[in-house]
Amino acid sequence: MTRYRIAWMPGDGIGRDVMDATRIVLDKLALDAEYVSADIGWEFWRTEGDPLPQRTIDILKTCDCAMFGAITSKPKEEADDELSPDMKGKGLVYRSPIVRLRQLFDLYVNLRPCKAYPGNPLNYREGIDLIVFRENTEDLYSGVEFYPLPSDLRVALEAHSPRMKAFKDDASDDIAISCRVVTRRGSRRIVRKAFEYARQYGYKTVTLVEKPNVVRETSGLITREARKIAAEEFPGISLWEANVDAMMMWLIKNPLDYGVMVTTNMFGDILSDLAAQLVGGLGFASSGNIGDDFAVFEPTHGSAPKYAGQYKVNPIATFLATRLMLDWIGEKEKADFLEAAIAGVIAEGKVRTYDMGGSHTSMEMAEAVAGRL
Ligand code: NAI
Ligand code: MG
Repeated sequence: MTRYRIAWMPGDGIGRDVMDATRIVLDKLALDAEYVSADIGWEFWRTEGDPLPQRTIDILKTCDCAMFGAITSKPKEEADDELSPDMKGKGLVYRSPIVRLRQLFDLYVNLRPCKAYPGNPLNYREGIDLIVFRENTEDLYSGVEFYPLPSDLRVALEAHSPRMKAFKDDASDDIAISCRVVTRRGSRRIVRKAFEYARQYGYKTVTLVEKPNVVRETSGLITREARKIAAEEFPGISLWEANVDAMMMWLIKNPLDYGVMVTTNMFGDILSDLAAQLVGGLGFASSGNIGDDFAVFEPTHGSAPKYAGQYKVNPIATFLATRLMLDWIGEKEKADFLEAAIAGVIAEGKVRTYDMGGSHTSMEMAEAVAGRL
């Protein structure tokens, strides 16, 4: 029996390339783990009508956590078109397997560290060290959406909001509504995670990135909860509040002023992409989808079909996701070794993939990192 069971989901396109490269690094770390392959992605949509087959969910339930590469997803018409003939006409609907995993396992934290490793030619500025806690289950991603607008819903909305008058002349199929659902429970648990992290790693502030002056109810709720949690549970750490639009400017102007940031799902999606670009972009952007007892770690990039199978893209994002995974399962020392090895290779500047201005392959990058372990 190995100590850990880790689900291994390369997915589509370069997901396979970066996950192959990652195995070189994990094998060198000699983690006492069994890697259990599990199917996910476009191929399983096409052939089985489900990009996240039930057998994969069953495997995940027997594992400590999962590593995931990337998947391809396509708009509705293409999704229907590409279904194999025996799957067509069954009314199958494509749903993002990643969003489903997050909901199924209640992976409410989306952790996105963005650190400028010294010597990375893509750093916007040296010394940047940001970490975004993005709520992963609610907000505009809750899936509570309407089109065309049902007439009973319209009547109810008109009864409760004078603002609905502005839309009275629009026909029901000329209006779409996506609900921004924010709960006290969801707000409290993500804010608390951000503060716990700040306490553990010695940050003096946590920045809440919202828009309570305009999106009054939802941003208002999380802001009130954040203030309470800060005051009642974390007296040594200050809560900074920033509006999401202004934050986009401040992060470009003064990126060194920030550290731990916390926000809702949609703002977090945007904020974390901007933060990632400050430290090298998609080749360096890792993320953890973390719940109370399960987690899925992944690079944030997609399947980049044009590079699939060429072993040319930067696997560092997936190595950094592996580092998060090691940290989460409690292998702190191995996590630190891995990060130091990655930082060492970047600082030395001899092995660089194309995005860093070099021409080394994903596997050469893996060998270079493994060589330092
Ligand atoms: P993408 O992230 O796959 O690639 C965009 C571009 O970024 C690539 O063409 C490449 O130039 C660069 N890039 C990405 N990863 C890189 C790496 N590791 N090293 C160096 N350069 C890298 O996004 P795109 O092209 O918009 O989407 C392709 C497919 O991936 C689509 O089907 C999309 O739906 C899916 N996707 C999946 C995600 C996931 O699995 N979590 C996330 C984003 C997109
Ligand atoms: Mg995104």
